[in-house]
Parts: sequence; structure tokens; C-alpha cells
Amino acid sequence: MKTTIGTIAGIALIALSTSAFADEQIEIGKKIYERAFGRGCGTCHDISSNPQLSANIKAGTLDRAKFEEVITNGRGGMPKALDEIMKNAAVTKAGYGKDQALDALYKYLETK
Ligand code: HEC
Repeated sequence: MKTTIGTIAGIALIALSTSAFADEQIEIGKKIYERAFGRGCGTCHDISSNPQLSANIKAGTLDRAKFEEVITNGRGGMPKALDEIMKNAAVTKAGYGKDQALDALYKYLETK
């Protein structure tokens, strides 16, 4: 009986901390999206003629690897954005590295 209660409490704790981590990730992703290049990625991406990042991720046409590739190297009218993302105050405050910052941004876009 004691073991059962301990196990349940343990599982609940893990579930709680996992969701707190996911919330933090999404919050940081949102700050990147809203603040990169001063006015945010949405300055360009919330205009319908440019790629719709959330929609493309949900449709499966923009996977994590392609996402990183375009952000790192730029493409056509899309500026290289990695330095800008790494300079974001939320990213430096959390001590995120490149992969963590891009994961956070991708996660946010998945939920947006
Ligand atoms: C100055 C406008 C501008 C800004 C700011 C901008 N983008 Fe873009 N982005 C574009 C354009 C235009 C394209 C399409 C490029 C092409 O294919 O020629 C694009 C393409 C992309 C793609 C590829 C999408 C796909 O489905 O193939 C990704 C990913 C992307 N941008 C991410 C971002 C992120 C993240 C930010 C913010 C950190 C950002 N962009 C800021 C203009 C912009």
C-alpha cells in the first residue's frame, strides 16, 4: 500500500515537472517569435503571402530539420535568423543552447 501511494506520488511529480518544462519552452518560443528582429518573425510570417509556419508544421511540410536549415542559412527573402534568436533575452536568461532555442520555437509554433 505504501509503495503504491509512493509510486502514484512519484508519477504525479514527474508529470507536473514535465508539463512545467513544456510551458517554459513554449513561453520562450513565443518570446522569440514575437521579438526576433525587433518586431518578431510575425512581421513577415503573419502575412498570408509568406510561408505560414504553424500551418506548415501541422501539415507536415516543415519538419524540424528543414526549420533549422532555413533559419540557419536563410532562403530568398528569409534572413539568417540564428544569431538573432540566440541574442533573445529569454534565451540567454534560460541559458538555452542552439538546439534548445530552436526546439522551443518549434514547439511554440506547433501549439500556435
Ligand atoms: C523579413 C521578413 C522575414 C522575417 C523577419 C522572418 N522571415 Fe522567415 N521567411 C521569410 C520569407 C519571405 C520566407 C520564404 C523564403 C523563400 O522560400 O524564398 C521565409 C521562410 C521561412 C521558413 C521556411 C518555411 C517553409 O515552410 O519552407 C522558416 C522555417 C522561417 N522562415 C522561419 C522564420 C523564423 C523562425 C523567423 C523569426 C526568427 C523568421 N522566419 C523571420 C521572411 C521572413
